[in-house]
Amino acid sequence: MPTTSSIRRLDAGAATLVFDLRRGYAELATFGPRLPVGEDCEALCDAGRRAPHESEPDVIVPNSVLPLLGSGYAGKSSVELCRAGRELPLRAAPIEWGGDEARSGGTEFRFSLRDEHHRISLASHWRALSSGVIAVESAVNNAADSVLQVARCASLVLPLPRWTRTIVHYDGRWSAEMHESRSALGSAPRIGGGSTGGRPGFTAGQWLRFEAADTCEHHGLCFAVHLEWSGDHEWQVDTDANGDSVLWIGTPLGHGEVELAEGESFVTPRALVAFGSQGRASLRNLWHRHVRDIVLPRQSRAQPRKVHLNTWEACGFAMTLPRLEQLAVDAAALGVERFVLDDGWFSGRRDDRSSLGDWWPSPQVFPQGLAPLIEKIRTLGMDFGLWVEPEMLSPESELYRAHPDWCIHVEGQARPTQRHQLALDLARPEVEAHLLATLDGLLSKHDIAYLKWDHNRELFPSGRRRVARVRALYRLLDELRARHPRVEIETCASGGGRVDLGMLARCARFWASDNNDPIERVRLNRAWWQFLPLGSCGNHVGPDPNPITGRSLPMNYRSKIAMFGHMGIEADPARMSDDERSVLATHVALYKSWRGVLHEGELYEIAHDEPGVAGWLSVSHARALALVVQQEFARYFETAPVRLVGLDRDRRYRVKLLEPWPSPAARYLVDATLWREGVLLSGEALATRGLRLPLRHPATAWLIALEIE
Ligand code: GLA
Repeated sequence: MPTTSSIRRLDAGAATLVFDLRRGYAELATFGPRLPVGEDCEALCDAGRRAPHESEPDVIVPNSVLPLLGSGYAGKSSVELCRAGRELPLRAAPIEWGGDEARSGGTEFRFSLRDEHHRISLASHWRALSSGVIAVESAVNNAADSVLQVARCASLVLPLPRWTRTIVHYDGRWSAEMHESRSALGSAPRIGGGSTGGRPGFTAGQWLRFEAADTCEHHGLCFAVHLEWSGDHEWQVDTDANGDSVLWIGTPLGHGEVELAEGESFVTPRALVAFGSQGRASLRNLWHRHVRDIVLPRQSRAQPRKVHLNTWEACGFAMTLPRLEQLAVDAAALGVERFVLDDGWFSGRRDDRSSLGDWWPSPQVFPQGLAPLIEKIRTLGMDFGLWVEPEMLSPESELYRAHPDWCIHVEGQARPTQRHQLALDLARPEVEAHLLATLDGLLSKHDIAYLKWDHNRELFPSGRRRVARVRALYRLLDELRARHPRVEIETCASGGGRVDLGMLARCARFWASDNNDPIERVRLNRAWWQFLPLGSCGNHVGPDPNPITGRSLPMNYRSKIAMFGHMGIEADPARMSDDERSVLATHVALYKSWRGVLHEGELYEIAHDEPGVAGWLSVSHARALALVVQQEFARYFETAPVRLVGLDRDRRYRVKLLEPWPSPAARYLVDATLWREGVLLSGEALATRGLRLPLRHPATAWLIALEIE
């Protein structure tokens, strides 16, 4: 007899999920926009049922969030388990549930099934977080007295709603992160991706978006899934002959990596699901709120994001104390608030061939230690940040000589390097303890406000301790943060090789890419910002020409693009012209006066017909700031007006173009005074008629300031 208690409803943000447990499965009957309070969910489930056809099991196998083989399910099962090396098929058992239904919809459910014969239980835990994002994790428990090997365990299995038509996924490489691809759902029976290097990697496959056919910026259904994990991931979407698609996502487990003794459990990393009912903007801003309000370390949430100067592209390894001191003076003159000393400051590190692991100041560069430089920086009114790459070591280092067995290696085999370095095996307790003592020592001894925590080598040979290494890294970061709560940390892995919410729960920001070329940045920032707020995204003005792409672009353009994010400078001001320094300093000041809007606001993408035109609008209460860029040479002399959607349509805004204006575009403005003093327009007019801006030439960028009158 079906009862309403075996139909469960979960409301989260703009979404409702309904689970039908009546047939013994945790069947996801609905995942879509929020249903009215009092919706008859039983009727909804009944209306969605169908009869079996001739080419499937006689008893239909519903799309469950805990699918197992054996019932006729032909996709990838939630788990793969073994005992004594032999695969163990779980016996189907009716689903059980528990959870909290205090409010109108439930806020938390736990589905579980128990195989009494093998004494194993499996659970999937769904929780609506206060942000509206849903967190899902799974667990396997072994109650038998023989060891259970977990070969695979999904964090999340999500049957996709039938309105899903497109998967948006990412891949990339060093300095070219976040290339976006769109795959039509069902274009292949299986679509998937993953990483194997011990970190999410440049493929960034743990960030996925799903869209309906008509989804655009301000309209349509969409959702996103993220694996909140700083190690490897795998995901796949299978589409079956019925046209039903299921997403499987989790961390891959090495052979013998998870072995459960009697009474032990394995809990997977969490997967997060976010739903948007009003286009990409609604989904993006849900992620941004989630990251700002729940994920980022508490002490970083409220603080203004200080302007950085990072020494890497200013002087690289060629650092001397006088040069650094001059750099600090020049940085302060531009308005910089934090000076970050990058790679090259420690032990004998004069290039990338040695010394990782030997975390003491180079006696050659800093004969009196770091204190004199830090003091100088503090006197100039800035705080001090330091680059470290704790999880690594160089074969040419004192640490390696003392502990050659501490690196990840296979006994008796060669130890291949990458960037001339090896990786420490953080799963070894003595390595974790050593790093804690070393970093704690550095932070206790010096006035350090910030660590740039890098990770430049993949963790090969990966072996069987991949999960343990990530958990040790989290413990290490958590303990350091507990001991030094005011120190902010940046996650960097040769740029954006380890950007995930596991790291961002412990770090103030991520380094989006080593590539500071603004044309590349526009592309890759746009992709990161689908998930992550501007304030968490490190965005720097680099040298000219750009050392990675070789492209030369005006300072006006570079500065405007670096302002949209957490602004910094990664170039030597002494090598800039007076005019460039003055343009840069003006933008640093603009960033300071607008960072509240940029970092707290709702972010909208500006749509435009011209392929080279891109733009964003950040709206916070009565103020808004838009950035509009033209990357190419326009097809027509006059480009279409730029329409700003996302403002309050009933209010009037004073609209100004912030100076310094781009050249030669500014020459085509009809009335400079009008744009300087501001023109009054309604949100409606701005959204529908828009602003006519000169956008003819490549490397043109405009900042549009809007304030409610
Ligand atoms: C990585 C980082 C860079 C810089 C160098 C230093 O490539 O991404 O920003 O810190 O290491 O070696």
